[in-house]
Amino acid sequence: MEKVDVVIIGAGASGLMCAATAAYRGRRVVVLDHANKAGKKILMSGGGRCNFTNMDAAPKHFLSANPHFCISALRRYSSQDFVDLVDRHGLDYVEKTPGQLFCEHSAKDLLDILLTELEWSGAELKLNTKIYNVDYQNEQTIIKTNKGDFACDSLVIATGGLSIPTMGASGFGYDIAKQVGHDILPTRASLVPITVQPDRKTQLAELSGIACDIEASANGTSFKEPMLFTHRGVSGPAILQITNFWQPGEELAINLAPELTLESLQAIRQNTPKKSFEGVLSSQLPKRLVELIKEQFPWLNERSAQTSNEQIESLHAYLSHFDIAPNGTEGYRTAEVTLGGVNTNEVSSKTFESNKQKGLYFIGEVLDVTGWLGGYNFQWAWASGFCAGQHV
Ligand code: FDA
Repeated sequence: MEKVDVVIIGAGASGLMCAATAAYRGRRVVVLDHANKAGKKILMSGGGRCNFTNMDAAPKHFLSANPHFCISALRRYSSQDFVDLVDRHGLDYVEKTPGQLFCEHSAKDLLDILLTELEWSGAELKLNTKIYNVDYQNEQTIIKTNKGDFACDSLVIATGGLSIPTMGASGFGYDIAKQVGHDILPTRASLVPITVQPDRKTQLAELSGIACDIEASANGTSFKEPMLFTHRGVSGPAILQITNFWQPGEELAINLAPELTLESLQAIRQNTPKKSFEGVLSSQLPKRLVELIKEQFPWLNERSAQTSNEQIESLHAYLSHFDIAPNGTEGYRTAEVTLGGVNTNEVSSKTFESNKQKGLYFIGEVLDVTGWLGGYNFQWAWASGFCAGQHV
């Protein structure tokens, strides 16, 4: 049996950050992962360029049944702290959308930084490690694996959520939490494309590949961002964002042209009577989408002066409540995150230690803390990993 101070299960974003932080403090740290590579999600994130933080990250960008939980860690380890770290390593990065920082070249550059930090700190990484059993005996935690057994004072669960099982995601963290009596809040795939009902799918599939700026609203929250039509339904930032707030069966409103209010359509008729609404729509929406709308409104190419109030009202209703007939989501297969998880009312927001089992810690996505799209989820992984790393 190998005796160490800290065992971290999960060599993803939060686990690597926690490991280096703890090892720099002089703790003897081993990181175990069943995958053959560390940080696989980092490599595939942000289209291969990892949106590694958001400079505006604040508690309001996170969902949790206990919204105050994330405040302390986000304050103690800010996005600027992470930027300072990558700056020390000379990472080239770009701000794509305001606040969202991406690697300029490849997510691998960021993973290399984390692995360099791990090496410099003296923490040890063991990949291809299958965990058989976790047991708590006399102030010690015993972890049995295919690479031998470990005894430690602190066990950190950094195994993430359920999304992308092919990348190593598993429900392991929830099982460990349940084993000591933790409550797991219902989990569901989020930041995920929406699928549409079969009839609508055939129609919308013709639009596959085109994107437009829309407003998606559900349960009182709205996002004005691009939507992308896909072969299965709809995706793109606006759709991914709204899945944090919408569930299949609930109302989802898609406004195809949020700038075109009923009043502005009426004003167009008043001020530019010779202009057609087809021309107006074509200046805002992709051609193929305008063609689809024209099937519903054959009068669209007429001069606006010739349109009635009823016609304008029905066009506005169609645009502002565009019916995508949502069916469900693509699920964990393509979701970026898992909503729900270990109930944060049972974990210290300062140390991340369980209040059910001394020496057991939970960090990252396994906890019931989920960020919006835009680098917030990695910031949560860095912040929670850093804060736990200071205590384990
Ligand atoms: P993470 O998932 O990173 O790591 C968990 C580790 O635990 C993995 O290495 C896994 O192999 C290991 N593990 C799991 N079960 C185990 C077991 N039973 N035994 C041993 N090891 C086990 N976020 C963001 O902010 N910006 C972005 O650009 C993106 N983009 C993005 C794209 C895609 C496609 C996905 C799927 C996700 C994103 N995300 C994102 C979300 C982000 O990747 C995610 O929130 C963090 O990786 C979570 O970090 P964790 O450390 O909690 O888990």
